[in-house]
Amino acid sequence: MSTAIPTDTSIKQRWTKRHLLGLEYLSAEEITMILDQAAEFKRLAEQGETKLGVLSGTVVANLFFEPSTRTRTSFGLAAKRLSADTVEFTASGSSLVKGETFIDTARNIEAMGVDQVVVRHSTPGAPHLLAQHLNTSVLNAGDGTHEHPTQALLDIFTIREHRGSLKGLTVALVGDISHSRVARSNIWGLKKLGARVIVCGPATLIPKHVERLGVEVATNLDKVLPELDCINLLRIQFERQRGGLFPSIAEYAHLFGMNGERMKRAKDDVVILAPGPINRGVEITPDVADGKHSVILDQVTNGLLIRMACLYLLHVDKASGETGT
Ligand code: CP
Repeated sequence: MSTAIPTDTSIKQRWTKRHLLGLEYLSAEEITMILDQAAEFKRLAEQGETKLGVLSGTVVANLFFEPSTRTRTSFGLAAKRLSADTVEFTASGSSLVKGETFIDTARNIEAMGVDQVVVRHSTPGAPHLLAQHLNTSVLNAGDGTHEHPTQALLDIFTIREHRGSLKGLTVALVGDISHSRVARSNIWGLKKLGARVIVCGPATLIPKHVERLGVEVATNLDKVLPELDCINLLRIQFERQRGGLFPSIAEYAHLFGMNGERMKRAKDDVVILAPGPINRGVEITPDVADGKHSVILDQVTNGLLIRMACLYLLHVDKASGETGT
């Protein structure tokens, strides 16, 4: 049986954003509000309150134009936990293949009475475009190489759970920074919450002028390894690369892969994260991925709470007249 949310409504009353397009556009206070709301949902779940009634009578549409396991499933389950109805859209087999435009497709789905749209697309800015053309809230579930805000929020939530605060922590994002929307969202979020951020990888996979975002650059993981409190191992995005950006996968794994040998030289309490899907043996060896410092599955569990928090905060409560603009 679902229950109404017996929580502090002041967070929701202070929330003013209609869309979640990226962490670039959120303040430290807004990011913290999402984290705190997710923590509240976790507390309720631990008390057995796993089904809440706050989105009862609303519809959440998952519009995925790119493959996904974690984000899609997690948003779908988050909507159900909040008692929303859900619609699952997949590009293949839709009228897109008959030439319907992206915006027309979304507007037709919205016309069925959808309240919130979750969108993943290979084109940077696709969610922003929908936000301009739809009346519903739009949540970015990953747009090309641009942003993946809920992934960064769940990464940050997981770090906060393990280390208490982000302030003063040194966090490394290791790997394919150029092609990574996860890296971009993490940089915005981590910097806003006071962490020191090092981006580390082959020079060919680090964007020019990335220092302008307030991060440090390292091309030698072993040099910075002893300083790191948290290491987020990004996936090599073979599907986005044109190839030739590093000599071989074996060399990448040798220079930047997290393995048992490097773990011996890391801090005793280092936290190992990976957004997934992981290339086992490339960015991370199985012993590290499944070892005691790894929080990879905690990240997935926390992703559900973060997505519940986002859907809840963005929900326009028409009954109480909140605008959520
Ligand atoms: N981390 C992540 O976005 O995974 P999916 O592609 O499976 O959603």
